[in-house]
Amino acid sequence: MSERTDLQGRHILLGLTGGIACYKSAELVRLLTKAGATVQVVMTEAAAAFITPVTMQALSGRAVVMSQWDAREPNNMAHINFSREADAIVIAPASADFIAKLAQGRADELLSLTCLARPRETCPLLVAPAMNREMWGHPATQRNVSLLEQDGTTILGPGVGDQACGEVGDGRMLEPEQLLEDIVAALAPKVLQWKRILITAGPTFEPIDPVRGITNHSSGKMGYALARAAREAGAIVQLVSGPVHLPTPRGVHRTNVMTAQEMYDVVLPLAAQSDVFIATAAVADWRPATLSEHKIKKEGKKVAPTFELTENPDILAAVAQQANAADGVPYCVGFAAESEHLLTHSRAKLQRKQIPLIIGNLGPATFGRDDNALLVVDAQSHHALPNDGIAVDKLTLARALMLELAKRLAGQPRSLQS
Ligand code: C5P
Repeated sequence: MSERTDLQGRHILLGLTGGIACYKSAELVRLLTKAGATVQVVMTEAAAAFITPVTMQALSGRAVVMSQWDAREPNNMAHINFSREADAIVIAPASADFIAKLAQGRADELLSLTCLARPRETCPLLVAPAMNREMWGHPATQRNVSLLEQDGTTILGPGVGDQACGEVGDGRMLEPEQLLEDIVAALAPKVLQWKRILITAGPTFEPIDPVRGITNHSSGKMGYALARAAREAGAIVQLVSGPVHLPTPRGVHRTNVMTAQEMYDVVLPLAAQSDVFIATAAVADWRPATLSEHKIKKEGKKVAPTFELTENPDILAAVAQQANAADGVPYCVGFAAESEHLLTHSRAKLQRKQIPLIIGNLGPATFGRDDNALLVVDAQSHHALPNDGIAVDKLTLARALMLELAKRLAGQPRSLQS
């Protein structure tokens, strides 16, 4: 579970409506509060048939309110008070009936009343549907959902899979961790809204025979953190990943590859449609010149086998060449993993690859780790990230890099429109 405090100082109004997925909302409250948020729970009568207000009160540390006539609010206007203090309203689970109510702007109980009364500019409404697949697929529900979207509501999910009724299909509420990731993203500043960002991540694997290969210690964590941060910043993100054991960040489109050549083949056409290319992958410089069809056997061999290597394409250099011929688009960012003389080597790489920005880091200090310290290097200047050079977690660094990128794109001669 995440130990991050991404929602520090944020106030979330969590609305529960009738559905078996209410049990997941208990965990969601825990995750939200662990992430630093204060949570005010409002429940409909139907929600209370699935989980008790006592449970939700104990987890949120605040009295759960269920009625617009609740006299505990001194001015008797819970719908105004709650919607004014909230940074976001999250309805999880949102039943088909409640979605229909929201679509119509009805307000005959506290939760729908609060949604209608919220200041739309400052308090986004996020709705996590949870229902049987037939109910979700019904044209009436789909119509209502698209009305909500037209009104600016964000629909979270739903997921696909086993349903409480025993059927399988669309309509499951997202898991609490997924909801948390989407809520954090919804509240993040949209500094790269609609920018198309292409990111490579992880190692490559260059096969020697069907069971062996050449690879490296890259975990993919930095690239995946960048993909998540870019999505939070409002970008449309394509992640091209070597073999890693990491979940795809929410809202990110991922293509898996094995070898450098495969990565090259996927990246080059995508780069031509991207505003930014960030090359975090640790791409193998060399691959075996021939691939043995069968496992190279030890038996009967007195001397160790040898094999020739051949050079892999340099993906970043190739994209940069295309970019430089096309007015600097995509804006190319490289990573330099060094073991010494970080600035000198990074700047040399910047020139060799003809790119505007390179991020230097010390390889042994970053591979596989959750934290890192970076050096941001361009042709004229360099600075440490974070300022004090003390390692912080990769998601924090990735978010800082998105701000850095947004600043640089704003200063670009050609406007990078998506
Ligand atoms: O070439 P070198 O390893 O020194 O540079 C590292 C940078 O170049 C990284 O951004 C890495 O993703 C990228 N790279 C690449 N294709 C290669 C080798 C490195 O895109 N074949």
